Amino acid sequence: MERKENEPLSFFETETLDAVLQKSRGFIKLMTYYRCAMMEIETKFKVLNEHYSLEHDRNPIQTVKTRLKSPISIREKLQRLGLEMQVATIEKNLHDIAGVRVICSFVEDVYALSNALLAQDDVTLIEKKDYIRSPKKNGYRSLHLIVSIPIFLANEKREMQVEIQLRTIAMDIWASLEHQMSYKKEIDITEGLSAELLECAELAYALDERMNAIHRKITQNK
Ligand code: GTP
Ligand code: MG
Repeated sequence: MERKENEPLSFFETETLDAVLQKSRGFIKLMTYYRCAMMEIETKFKVLNEHYSLEHDRNPIQTVKTRLKSPISIREKLQRLGLEMQVATIEKNLHDIAGVRVICSFVEDVYALSNALLAQDDVTLIEKKDYIRSPKKNGYRSLHLIVSIPIFLANEKREMQVEIQLRTIAMDIWASLEHQMSYKKEIDITEGLSAELLECAELAYALDERMNAIHRKITQNK
């Protein structure tokens, strides 16, 4: 059908669009709740950073990055798990819709920040995976936490889950590059290349340990 001039461009008939919007309302609401929870956690880390810079005259955090899982990634993950795309299913089964990545200066900052966050009385630890003390086979290192925190709405308090990844700058360089090259890609990386990637991860960690040791000596001499 030819579009008349000035006629609004629409992919849907009005009734279909209404139905789509009605169906996606719950989903959009849930995503908003996750975004709020992500903001709460981001603020908590920023506050901790302020406290450190006041008390110790330095910043343990280099950057805080946040991301909300896209609807396409949510659908893919649910499909992988053999689950339907429903609000209740998402909330029950996916723990990484809201993600916060904290890039720290030193390895000891990772643990200090994680302990400080988990000591807060509105933060509940759901799961902890320490890929620094026990790195993945490919060399991946980071401290992963899944926490639950309340968000306060006009008439309601809601507990929401957030996935937090804490890592050093060196760990982040390795993970970012490895992610681009191989993480979950359907390509075969030869054994030689995997061994080389692992070696790079070890080099990055050796650098972390040396920098941490230098930092410790400097602070002890102060
Ligand atoms: P997902 O299905 O991806 O959520 O994995 P999972 O539920 O087994 O959780 P895990 O804690 O192992 O990893 C979650 C996240 O950590 C991923 O989405 C990545 O951001 C990061 N990650 C985990 N392993 C690797 C890795 O080998 N390389 C890189 N670059 N990132 C990783
Ligand atoms: Mg996960």
